[in-house]
Amino acid sequence: MADFTPLDRRWFLALMGALPAARALACNVDTGVRPPGQPGARSGLAMADDLLLAPGLVYLQTGSVGPSPRPVMERTVAAWKELEQNPTRYAYRLGPPALEDVRTKAAAFLRCADDELVLTRNTTDGMNAVACGLDLAAGDRVLTTDQEHGGGRHCWDYLASRRGIVLDIVSVPPGENDAQAILDRFRRAITPRTRVLSFSHLLYTTGLRMPVVELSAMAAAHGCLSVVDGAQAAGGVDVNVTALGCDVYVTTGHKWMLGPKGTGMLCLREGARDRVPLIAEQAGRKAQSDSTGLTNIPSVLGLGAAIDYLRAFGIVQIEAHNLALRDQLFQILQGVPQVRLVSPPPGPLASPQVTVQLPDSVKCRDVAQRLSEKDQIMLRAIPDLPNGLRFSTHLFNSINDVERAVQGLRTELT
Ligand SMILES: Cc1ncc(COP(=O)(O)O)c(C=O)c1O
Repeated sequence: MADFTPLDRRWFLALMGALPAARALACNVDTGVRPPGQPGARSGLAMADDLLLAPGLVYLQTGSVGPSPRPVMERTVAAWKELEQNPTRYAYRLGPPALEDVRTKAAAFLRCADDELVLTRNTTDGMNAVACGLDLAAGDRVLTTDQEHGGGRHCWDYLASRRGIVLDIVSVPPGENDAQAILDRFRRAITPRTRVLSFSHLLYTTGLRMPVVELSAMAAAHGCLSVVDGAQAAGGVDVNVTALGCDVYVTTGHKWMLGPKGTGMLCLREGARDRVPLIAEQAGRKAQSDSTGLTNIPSVLGLGAAIDYLRAFGIVQIEAHNLALRDQLFQILQGVPQVRLVSPPPGPLASPQVTVQLPDSVKCRDVAQRLSEKDQIMLRAIPDLPNGLRFSTHLFNSINDVERAVQGLRTELT
């Protein structure tokens, strides 16, 4: 590759202008005349050669695990090699300031204050830390939805079984796509004992954008804590935690952020600090200290490189690309009569994921497995939807990927 450095990209995108131009660019994503992997080939917004994906693989599964670009892997490996030359010195002298830089970078990326950001291992880790850090007693209630991923839900189930808290579940039927209906259900479900509203930013099932600003305001008005699971958002769409107004925002480094696996970020807003006294922070607000234990420094530094990589394109441009491609995908899927589209149509509730419900004659897991093994097309089966198949579109995906995936699906259904 590498005749197109991140700096070049920044220059290029600056030249292209802001969102409208980026949308235009995104709508004209590489039609795949040049096969991915060829020197200089573009795959979506990214250079094909930036990624280490197997040649010919159609990867529409960033919502499960994102592929780390080459600069991220190189930074991680370089840090690891340096560490092993003198482990103690690196772990306690050289590593910590570098980790602090990543924390600052991550806070700027998610738009919260530096000292509101805690580095974690993943979303589940962050959710667990928040749930266990809260002082909830038997009879206290947590309000959540029926569309949460286990990583955002198990922590509350745990507190229900161990401490007797009560879970109230709001339904968000796939395919309904109505933000006002969601808000009305939340409002009706709040009780005087409700202490927490816990919900996703983007639903992992359908990709629907939850009305986070309104739900956070609702939580505040009732004296409740708002906890947002942002696993499917950070890196794929522009996340501004401050503007969202939630108390806690939890996300991961290894999906849309394209960072090393086993990295995550937790934003605990200043005003909520007293209500969620995280153990990790009791030894001081440091990403790593003698008292919080040694972290995986190379991976965290790789996360810093992933943030640099995304910032070189600009998150606004990335979101525009992802949405333009997902809207094209949505349109193409409208022409597949056997499936039911359950994701929001193009518009304010849409995100870079499209999910379809498959007919009863096939099983989503079987279809996903056959597409993967026969056609090298990676999609996510969502059996609980029920029988769903999810496509994720990120900056390295092109219309080629989308067309190949839909063609593969058509073949499976005939
Ligand atoms: C909404 C949501 N929350 C949490 C998780 C778990 O993510 P992690 O591996 O970061 O814990 C996922 C994974 O798919 C998810 O989609």
